[in-house]
Amino acid sequence: MSDVEKWKSELKKLNSEYAKIKTLPPEERGKFGREMNAKKQKILAAISAAEAEAESTSITPIDISAPAAPNEAIPHVSRGSKHPLMTELDRVIQIYASMGFDIMESRQLDDELHMFDSLNFPKDHPARDGYDTFRTSENFIPPAHTSTMQHRALKKYKRKLDEGGKIAVAIPGRVFRNEDADATHEHTFYQCEGVFVSKDATMGQMFAVLKHFFEAYYGQKLKIKTQPGYFPFTEPSAELLIEKPASLGGKGGDWLEMLGCGMIHPNVLKMADIDPEIYHGFAWGGGIDRLAMLKYGLSDVRYFESGKLDFLEEF
Ligand code: DAH
Repeated sequence: MSDVEKWKSELKKLNSEYAKIKTLPPEERGKFGREMNAKKQKILAAISAAEAEAESTSITPIDISAPAAPNEAIPHVSRGSKHPLMTELDRVIQIYASMGFDIMESRQLDDELHMFDSLNFPKDHPARDGYDTFRTSENFIPPAHTSTMQHRALKKYKRKLDEGGKIAVAIPGRVFRNEDADATHEHTFYQCEGVFVSKDATMGQMFAVLKHFFEAYYGQKLKIKTQPGYFPFTEPSAELLIEKPASLGGKGGDWLEMLGCGMIHPNVLKMADIDPEIYHGFAWGGGIDRLAMLKYGLSDVRYFESGKLDFLEEF
């Protein structure tokens, strides 16, 4: 019997007792009536409470073991898709992996040591201004480039040198700059870093590796050229350009700067306990957004981080 039913039968019993009033002497009837009414009020209140309680707990149970109805029309569900930058990033990793590179991932919060000190940026040197970025109140730094990972990569794979091998690592990651955004600049974008160390690494090898990378990525032969650059963590430093191929709208002689590179500065090797008298290395870093923009003929880098569905749905 439910609580509601129990109280209702109490009420019935009480109502039948009212008849007793006639058998009582008149002077006792008033008291009897008041007691009966008080009992009745209590029972009515209990009924209301029991009814409210029953209502709140009467949820239709769901049978989670019930079979699906495969023949019933399923409403169209939009599942979204992989972001084009992630597709390109995977492609970049794939190419470096096929060339024998280990892959590490960069992080989205780093520190002074990895952002500047381990990269041979002298304290208070104006070169730090070129990497103007944000800081948290605890002085952590959203990295302005993937070079922040160089020190970690050198330390992690140094054992390969000790075993007579070489270090070859590619490191994709998201980077952040305190930048006024326009069609070719974003405050948030992706880069891929490369680090190579061996006993006989040369700049010539570096340009061969990079040429191979760009040709694999764009699926065709390309012309490259270099121009001098400056980075505290490389000596000498260079910028690498590729000629925009005709298949991507190039008219010949359109040179596009794709990345910064150079021979790893002896101080950077020393910081990671690698002897620069014995080992030499080269490193490079460039934007993935820029690679993808050329591939897809995009005129505005801001599309990537815009969250515009009509843009994303084109990929
Ligand atoms: N980190 C540099 C930048 O974002 C690019 C770069 C230059 C990376 C030279 C390197 C390098 O590894 O050796 O501007």
